[in-house]
Amino acid sequence: MTSTDSSKPLHVQQVIKTYQQGTSKVHALDRVSLTVEPGEFVAIMGASGSGKSTLLHAMAGLIDVDGGTVTIAGQDLSQLADGPLTRFRRDNLGIVFQAYNLIPSLTAEANIRLPAPKKMGGELDAKVDRLLQRLGMIERRHHKPGALSGGEQQRIAIARALICDPAILLADEPTGSLDSVTGTQICKLLRRLVDEERRSIVMVTHEPHVAMWADRICVLKDGTNLAEIQTDGTRDPQTVARQYQEALGGEVLV
Ligand SMILES: Nc1ncnc2c1ncn2[C@@H]1O[C@H](COP(=O)(O)OP(=O)(O)OP(=O)(O)O)[C@@H](O)[C@H]1O
Ligand SMILES: [Mg+2]
Repeated sequence: MTSTDSSKPLHVQQVIKTYQQGTSKVHALDRVSLTVEPGEFVAIMGASGSGKSTLLHAMAGLIDVDGGTVTIAGQDLSQLADGPLTRFRRDNLGIVFQAYNLIPSLTAEANIRLPAPKKMGGELDAKVDRLLQRLGMIERRHHKPGALSGGEQQRIAIARALICDPAILLADEPTGSLDSVTGTQICKLLRRLVDEERRSIVMVTHEPHVAMWADRICVLKDGTNLAEIQTDGTRDPQTVARQYQEALGGEVLV
């Protein structure tokens, strides 16, 4: 690994993750590598079971890997003990899931505040206001998740992921529970975070009309890097679908 690569926001080098299932082994990740630049939006595509979520969880330090390294802002995650890893994750990564994972008994605003360290003090109030404004949720701040639409809940989950101002946002199928119009709104929001705030985003998706918002698509197959697709900014789902099909060698999409 060169020092240039390890200084990138996110550098995944030859990562291996193997699960034991009964007597057999599942090679969820088999030497996957990926480097993400500052202000770059990368989508991860691949059939069900190809290792997308496992890769995202490895990047987030949510699972231990069996080989290779995950380096975030120059820090090898395997070198951090549990407590420091939790703090490191809070300060450097925002994570968004398909199922939003909001706390139902808390208001939207309280959900956003949850990960913020006490030391943020009064600065936190201003930050919450800015995020609610930016995400078009200012009028929904006192609602609990049950009173919000799926798209609104995902906006709150994104605000929560951004509260500690991470350079990197990791999202596992963030539009997977949304209709296509609402999903596109979330994609545009993610794109703005890259274009206007120069955050780096890694987003797992099955859908070409979602992946087309990325700058680059990393295609996984059986836990390995199969192909890279450069999107050209035209945001044409048919082109992305065709390139993805070609990468898979004409196999049926899942
Ligand atoms: N905790 C686990 N224990 C055992 N096997 C696992 C575990 N997590 C994932 N796997 C296996 O690792 C492989 C990759 O799983 P992963 O969840 O990363 O796939 P995915 O690409 O995200 O799929 P999907 O598109 O369905 O979400 C699969 O074969 C899965 O069954
Ligand atoms: Mg998955």
